[in-house]
Amino acid sequence: MMDLLIPDKTHDEGRQGEALMLKAETAKNNGRKLYIESYGCAMNFSDSEIVASILAERGFETTTDYSIADVIFINTCSIRENAEQRVRNRLKEFTVAKVKNPGLVVGVLGCMAERLKSKFLEEEKLVDVVVGPDAYRDLPNLIDRVDDGQKAVNVLLSREETYADISPVRLNSNGINAFVSIMRGCDNMCSFCVVPFTRGRERSRDPLSIVAECRDLFDRGYREVTLLGQNVDSYKYSTTGEDVITTNFANLLELVALINPDLRVRFSTSHPKDITDDVLYAINKYDNICNYIHLPVQSGNSRILDLMNRTYDRDWYINRIDAIRRIIPDCAISTDVITGFCSETDEEHKDTVSMMDYVKYDFAYMFKYSERPGTLAAKRYADDIPEEVKQKRLTEIVAKQQEYSFYRMQARIGRVERVLIEGFSKKSDKDYCGRSDQNAMVIFPVGENYKPGQYVNVLIERSTTATLIGKVVD
Ligand code: 5AD
Ligand code: SF4
Repeated sequence: MMDLLIPDKTHDEGRQGEALMLKAETAKNNGRKLYIESYGCAMNFSDSEIVASILAERGFETTTDYSIADVIFINTCSIRENAEQRVRNRLKEFTVAKVKNPGLVVGVLGCMAERLKSKFLEEEKLVDVVVGPDAYRDLPNLIDRVDDGQKAVNVLLSREETYADISPVRLNSNGINAFVSIMRGCDNMCSFCVVPFTRGRERSRDPLSIVAECRDLFDRGYREVTLLGQNVDSYKYSTTGEDVITTNFANLLELVALINPDLRVRFSTSHPKDITDDVLYAINKYDNICNYIHLPVQSGNSRILDLMNRTYDRDWYINRIDAIRRIIPDCAISTDVITGFCSETDEEHKDTVSMMDYVKYDFAYMFKYSERPGTLAAKRYADDIPEEVKQKRLTEIVAKQQEYSFYRMQARIGRVERVLIEGFSKKSDKDYCGRSDQNAMVIFPVGENYKPGQYVNVLIERSTTATLIGKVVD
């Protein structure tokens, strides 16, 4: 990895990249309205912005009110069974709307579309369109087909599609933070995970188009970008031709950080097997690359990690945590944990608990194992941990995480945090909220001298488990 280069004519080439981007605003309105709702990971939310852009090119305007929509899309998640159930329930509400308005087009996009393919049309008769994550460019044709009275399906996965040239229409945006997709798919084949089947092979997007998109966002007033991929650390893009230039994730982080020191850079998700010291040094080198890493552990036990096909063991994970602590002083770390994976014993579960004691995560997403059809685990191992045991283990780690979240928050009291103001706090328009460098939500009183999109220094006075509370100081 050490011999990879950063392209040197970044600025000019970035501008060229910008010229390549489609300008969605130029299309003529066709009088039809699109409503799109997203479930699951940030990548789905980001994909919905690409879908909105592709359809804006064909004159569709987006609406946030589905009762006035001509096209309703639901961008779905298959990661756990309950995610799919939630989508099905919501779909029932949309199909009621379709009974009232037979001209309404109802479409299912994303991972559930890819997983169930045309079976979806048999199961949910009122759905008209089923489109997988790599087929969104085909949406205008598919809608035409539905207008002609047919059902339409495209679930082809691609090895190349990155939607690099599409400038996303920012949906539900505060004009300050944006997601930027840097790669698609996943080659990891964790045994519990359906993503490699629904999102296909891993491919990285041209760094010039990424930098161009981020620069454009900055020029339009955005102050934070989150670079998205299932496994950002394996980002790798090589130019073709004679003088091949390869950009890895550490290089990409630097390229984006150099756009402007006032543009904060975040990224998700990292993989313990791939996160290199080079990435950690890049984070430490630039103040505007945030000191926050989401590093899913899944389990603290090496036998379970092996069954999960995570390709690292407990010692390797601890080594990566130690490297983060060594190279990036004051870095927040969050994680994902699964309880009750196939054959997990109480002792093995205790290893997960002790990992939480070791790292003292700032935040964690915790789940009970949910068997997904077609995955390696579903094929190879029995889902043999009783529901109550999965739940008991989950309850235990949730309580443990509450303690550590509070511990991490309390440790910030008396410190001054640099906060990017995002808007009013959820509870009161007398307070603003924004995130610290370490990704903690910070609440402080509204003042005359600062507004959303600006940075302020906030002295932290108290905290809950999830929020820091303080006042602005100079
Ligand atoms: N069951 C439970 N949790 C899962 N995840 C992925 N697949 C499953 C599954 N089958 C969790 C992992 C992953 C996160 C996005 O979702 O922790 O990191
Ligand atoms: Fe799923 Fe593993 Fe890929 Fe994450 S890295 S998307 S958990 S297969």
